[in-house]
Amino acid sequence: VKKIAVLTSGGDSQGMNAAVRAVVRSALYFGLEVYGIQRGYQGLLNSDIFPMDLRSVGDIIQRGGTVLQSARCKEFMTPEGQQKGAQILRDHGIDGLVVIGGDGSYQGANKLSKLGIKTMGLPGTIDNDISYTDYTIGFDTAVSIVVDAINKLRDTMSSHERSSIVEVMGRHCGDIALHAGLASGAETILVPEVEYSLEEVSERMKQNFAHGKRHSIIIVAEGAGSGDLVAQEVLKSCPSYEPRVTVLGHIQRGGTPTAFDRNLASRLGDFAVRKLIEGESDKACGIIKGELVTTDIDKVVNTKKPFNMELYELALRLSQ
Ligand code: F6P
Repeated sequence: VKKIAVLTSGGDSQGMNAAVRAVVRSALYFGLEVYGIQRGYQGLLNSDIFPMDLRSVGDIIQRGGTVLQSARCKEFMTPEGQQKGAQILRDHGIDGLVVIGGDGSYQGANKLSKLGIKTMGLPGTIDNDISYTDYTIGFDTAVSIVVDAINKLRDTMSSHERSSIVEVMGRHCGDIALHAGLASGAETILVPEVEYSLEEVSERMKQNFAHGKRHSIIIVAEGAGSGDLVAQEVLKSCPSYEPRVTVLGHIQRGGTPTAFDRNLASRLGDFAVRKLIEGESDKACGIIKGELVTTDIDKVVNTKKPFNMELYELALRLSQ
């Protein structure tokens, strides 16, 4: 490859900027030309493509969001849209593309590679729902934000002996709920991967208070239900615990990335460029047991990430 481009797509995540910086600076270091594409695949179809140099990625390693901006693009899901995108890249002389995003973004990269563009996917999503990587860029920051919020909720909940129901992001994956739950000592963690009954949730809460606890924290991943629904049940079965619902929402997707996310993004961005130079294509980059790896995108998009039941059981055991 001689000329590569980079884009961010789908929901943004903290650390995407650090990844863009790494892609641009490593590419330039290895003698490639680099282009940025504004607003993901939508920007590609609009030919919103511009050259990037060392200074275009200055002062962004610490920033949340994405300087390249992001979009969800319906047109690019069609074969016509994909062909148009590949042609636009060819017209610019671009033969390699780094896509930073989640599952949908990977599917786009996969289609482009079938049309002759060399592609690399980097896992950019707070949900940690991508297979063949232990961590996605942004996940660590999102978990820290949730833990920080729960610390604050604990203070006021224990003053009033209330139960706190915290709804977190994670449409198909309970990892944010699980990791934040373990780190914050939540009594109950509801995730899409594990079935639960609302009666059991209330029962567990009653036991918590009976054992002398002064508050009870229930984390609900949005894919497992809504905080309001859980609160209604708690209100029915134990009104004295005065449930209060906090929906953390998009707060989880903003703010400065943690050092972990910046370092992961920097390593993966550089890795993707080196793999393109080595001639690899249609690959998802990830980190498994500390090692950077590439996996065929086809395999990654068709596999559900296994849920860590051991960690889930540990979190519940320790919060009794
Ligand atoms: O980035 C993934 C995610 O955070 C999901 O957990 C959530 O459901 C979704 O994005 C919401 O994104 P948006 O509001 O941008 O559509």
